[in-house]
Amino acid sequence: MKDLFGTALLDYQNNNYTEDIITSTSISEEDTLPIPYLFRSFDAMPFIEQEALSLVKGAILDVGAGAGNHSLYLQNNGFTVKAIDSSKGAIRVCELRGVNHFAHIALLEETETFDTILLLMNGTGIFQTFQNIPKYLKHLKSLLNPGGQILIDSSDITYMFEDEDGGFWQDLHQGYHGEVDYFLSYKDEEEVPMKWLYLDFSSLHIAAASAGLYCEMVHEGEHFDYLARLWG
Ligand SMILES: C[S@@+](CC[C@H](N)C(=O)[O-])C[C@H]1O[C@@H](n2cnc3c(N)ncnc32)[C@H](O)[C@@H]1O
Repeated sequence: MKDLFGTALLDYQNNNYTEDIITSTSISEEDTLPIPYLFRSFDAMPFIEQEALSLVKGAILDVGAGAGNHSLYLQNNGFTVKAIDSSKGAIRVCELRGVNHFAHIALLEETETFDTILLLMNGTGIFQTFQNIPKYLKHLKSLLNPGGQILIDSSDITYMFEDEDGGFWQDLHQGYHGEVDYFLSYKDEEEVPMKWLYLDFSSLHIAAASAGLYCEMVHEGEHFDYLARLWG
């Protein structure tokens, strides 16, 4: 992993913003990911994220914190938050922006426990594959204090597989349809391709039950996106 995502965040933080990140997936064309969006204020956040921030309690873990937008907002509102990210550049940006508690670790390396765990901006992406879900949910559950909760967002991308008649096509040999290959480039350099998981609510609900977690839909967005709350 070259950490081009972290490099882009650091460039922006250090006033060296000249171009945006280019992304594409195995099921979608090239798209631009504007770096200023990765430094969004509360007002610029989608409603689902604002809703998640309104539901937090106690000690918080912000998983895949990126540039630390959610951590900073909560910290400024009196919460104790730990930001973690597998991107070294992202965690350096969190530090430079004033996040008090941070660690450059992947989710599966975290061992402390929390009252609220946040995974936002397609939080299920971090699970990477459908097969990985039980492992990640089991680990997330182990990081919850009694009475703790997980707030996670994702999108049901089934609509991308619908034909004109409203039918649904899927290559069963390709596995779960929300598991996509994710390509990212920045300043003409290409990142090592990654797996990224979009998970429909029903599948999350079933996987949560298998992991011994309750799961409820908190909010359904306008474009197949949703916020879910899981607890033990
Ligand atoms: C789509 S970005 C979202 C960033 C931030 N939450 C936001 O909303 O702006 C996903 C983030 O998750 C991080 N990430 C991916 N896999 C991870 C893992 N296994 N553990 C921790 N962070 C991870 C990436 O480096 C990236 O910063």
